[in-house]
Amino acid sequence: MTNLNNAKLAISAGFLSQIPKDLPHIVFAGRSNVGKSTLLNKLVNQKKLARTSSSPGKTITINFYEADKTLYLVDLPGYGYAKRSEADKKRWSALVEGYFMENADKNINLIVMLVDLKVGATADDLNMIGYMDDFGLPYIIVATKSDKLNKTQREEKLGELKNAHPDCAIIPFSSLSGEGVNEARGKILSYAK
Ligand code: GTP
Ligand code: MG
Repeated sequence: MTNLNNAKLAISAGFLSQIPKDLPHIVFAGRSNVGKSTLLNKLVNQKKLARTSSSPGKTITINFYEADKTLYLVDLPGYGYAKRSEADKKRWSALVEGYFMENADKNINLIVMLVDLKVGATADDLNMIGYMDDFGLPYIIVATKSDKLNKTQREEKLGELKNAHPDCAIIPFSSLSGEGVNEARGKILSYAK
């Protein structure tokens, strides 16, 4: 069984030529500030492997964390960050679109699409999901920050996501309560090979 606990940073790639292709990729995608790095840290049982941001949208690199010489956990730079400059938006597109074009067929096993449960899927999220569909990539949805909703809101928001994405696993997640960590880890490991 693959052990994620020993994950370590392999490379912080700012250029397509730096992207490693020797192990399968499990990709974490979502809006800036949705909780990608936080989820990653929970999955690997480490407090500070992936940097959680106080300044969202700052770095435009794709971070590859190698686990057990078996797979890479891939932290994509977030999208939808309003204050990002035009030049940085272009860099984001070139890097992320280039990454998918070069790796979707051969290296990417699964996309973990993060959506803020309270906010729901934004237009940017739906674009991203459309993009996954175009590439034929399998994805699951992790609905983050579930601790911010009461029971009624939670059921309503989860229902909306399930209706919109009926064929997709939807896992509510909270870094505060730990809800969803084991379920997400199990799903990811089932796509390791
Ligand atoms: P970028 O790297 O900028 O794209 O952001 P990110 O998606 O990696 O988000 P990050 O993990 O840095 O989290 C953003 C903020 O949300 C941080 O202040 C986290 O502490 C907070 N956060 C993440 N997950 C949860 C959660 O489940 N519940 C609550 N209440 N806060 C969370
Ligand atoms: Mg991050």
